[in-house]
Amino acid sequence: MIVLVTGASSGLGKYTAQALRDAGHTVIAGARSFELGQAEGMHRIHLDVTSGESVAAFVKAALAIAPRVDALVQCAGILTLGTCEEVPAEEYRRIMETNFLGMVRVNQLVLPLMRKQGGGKIVMFSSINGLLGIPFQSAYVASKHAIEGYAECLQMEARPFGIQVCLVEPGDHRGGSEAYRNRVTDADSPYAEAFAKGAAVIRRDEQNGSDPSRLGRRVAKAVSRKRMPFRLRSASADQHLAVYLHKLLPAWVNEKVLCSYYLGKGCKTST
Ligand SMILES: NC(=O)c1ccc[n+]([C@@H]2O[C@H](COP(=O)([O-])OP(=O)(O)OC[C@H]3O[C@@H](n4cnc5c(N)ncnc54)[C@H](OP(=O)(O)O)[C@@H]3O)[C@@H](O)[C@H]2O)c1
Repeated sequence: MIVLVTGASSGLGKYTAQALRDAGHTVIAGARSFELGQAEGMHRIHLDVTSGESVAAFVKAALAIAPRVDALVQCAGILTLGTCEEVPAEEYRRIMETNFLGMVRVNQLVLPLMRKQGGGKIVMFSSINGLLGIPFQSAYVASKHAIEGYAECLQMEARPFGIQVCLVEPGDHRGGSEAYRNRVTDADSPYAEAFAKGAAVIRRDEQNGSDPSRLGRRVAKAVSRKRMPFRLRSASADQHLAVYLHKLLPAWVNEKVLCSYYLGKGCKTST
C-alpha cells in the first residue's frame, strides 16, 4: 500500500512510519524538519500542517512519487502545559491549528483522491486525553476532543465511498520529543505549586510510558488489515480503567480521582 504519514520525524509518528515500512508498505513521510528526498527506506517531504500551501505541496509531491493514496496516518501534534487562566488564546489557536485543523487540511485534500480511487484508510492520532480532561493540558485536551468528534462525523460521511476511519488513542508512551512540549505557567503564577505537581506527574508518566515501537506496529497491523477498528486504544490498565470509569461515574467522582492523582494533597474538590 501507499501510505502517507504526517508528523513522522519523531515520537509515535516516526515509530509508526518505520513499522509501516517494515510491513512492506511504501511510506511517504511528512514533517517540517524534512527536505524532499529519501532516507531510511522512506520518501520524505517537507510538511507544515498549519499551512494550506504546504499541505497542497505535500500532497502534490506525494502524488508525483506514487499515483494513489491507500492510507493516510496523521500523527503531527504538539502539546502545551499551562492553566486555563494563563494559556493565551493565541496558544490555544496554535495547538488547534496543528493538532486539529492540521488534520482537517490534509484530510480535505486526500479524501477526494480516496473517493475517486473507490476507498482508502484514514488514521488519526487522538489520545486518552481526547476522552477525558486532566489539569494543565486544556489546549491539548480540547484539540484531541475535537478530533474525536470530527472522526465520528467523518466515518459516517465517508464510509459510503469505501473510506475507513480509525482513531488511535494512546496513553503515555516514551520517546515523544521535548521540543513539542511548551510550558506557559511560571513560578509567579497563583497556580505555581499545583502546576509544578501536575507537570511532574505528567512528565513521570511519559517517562515511564509504554513502548512506542509496539504502538507503531499495532497501527501498522491495523492499517494492513482489510477492516480497521474505529478505535485503537493503547494505554496502561490504569488509563483504560480511567476512561471506563469516566463514562460510568458521576462527574464529581471523576474530578476527585483525577484531581488527587495529579495534585495529590493539593487537590480540593466540591466534596
Ligand atoms: N507520546 C505520547 O505519550 C502520546 C500520547 C497520546 C497521544 N500522542 C499523540 O501522538 C502523536 C505523536 O506524538 P509524540 O509525542 O510521539 O511525538 P513528538 O515527538 O512530539 O512529535 C511530534 C511530531 O509532529 C510533527 N509536527 C509538529 N508540528 C507540525 C506541523 N506544524 N506540521 C507538520 N508536522 C508537525 C513533528 O515534526 P516537525 O517538528 O519536524 O514538523 C514531529 O514529527 C501526537 O499527535 C500526539 O498528540 C502521543
